[in-house]
Amino acid sequence: MVKVAPSLLSANFAYLKEEINAIKAADWIHYDVMDGHFVPNISFGYSILKDVSKVTDMYLDVHLMITDPAKYVDNFINSNASLIVFHYEAVAEDKINELIAHIKEHDVEVGLSIKPDTPVEVLKPFLNELDVVLVMSVEPGFGGQKFNSAAVDKIAQLATLRKENNYHYLIEVDGGINESTSKLCNDAGVDVLVAGSYVFGSDDYTKAIESLK
Ligand code: DX5
Ligand code: ZN
Repeated sequence: MVKVAPSLLSANFAYLKEEINAIKAADWIHYDVMDGHFVPNISFGYSILKDVSKVTDMYLDVHLMITDPAKYVDNFINSNASLIVFHYEAVAEDKINELIAHIKEHDVEVGLSIKPDTPVEVLKPFLNELDVVLVMSVEPGFGGQKFNSAAVDKIAQLATLRKENNYHYLIEVDGGINESTSKLCNDAGVDVLVAGSYVFGSDDYTKAIESLK
């Protein structure tokens, strides 16, 4: 069954522990790190991640939307990330393998993400090494945007590539996920649905999470 990863970006940070306790029906916690440079918004960093890791046993899916992920990756490793996803667009092509290997050496899972205008093809040299491929279905930077349906084809492409080559990565989609867009992604073969405003904007988080599965 598909996993659901509520994005803490849309949580109420004055009540963070309560918000985390209220999403126990979910599978992963999605943690969006934004630097005001790679994306035009600033969110939160690794010290809050460490605090979060102390109040939950859930799998911590860290999505780095930052310009120089290699510079900060150890901070996120040391703050108990379960998975670190960085952006293909943020790292020079010849440095990507090195960063993937570095994260794996520390027993943290690793993912690569592509923005809506980046084709799946660019990921081909790295797919064998990845635990997760994160397909952005909005321009990274903000919660609450409209789903870009180009992501559906990318999910299907990644599912085909995985089957043909026996890769093991999970396919994750992020942005504009709700009860109807989740169906499109589920039908295309997605494994993990990130949902921020849909979950945290609802009156009943458990019901919202279950409606996506
Ligand atoms: C966008 C973030 C998303 C965001 C999703 O840059 O990567 O994780 O929180 O929010 P919704 O589900 O509201 O589109
Ligand atoms: Zn995200």
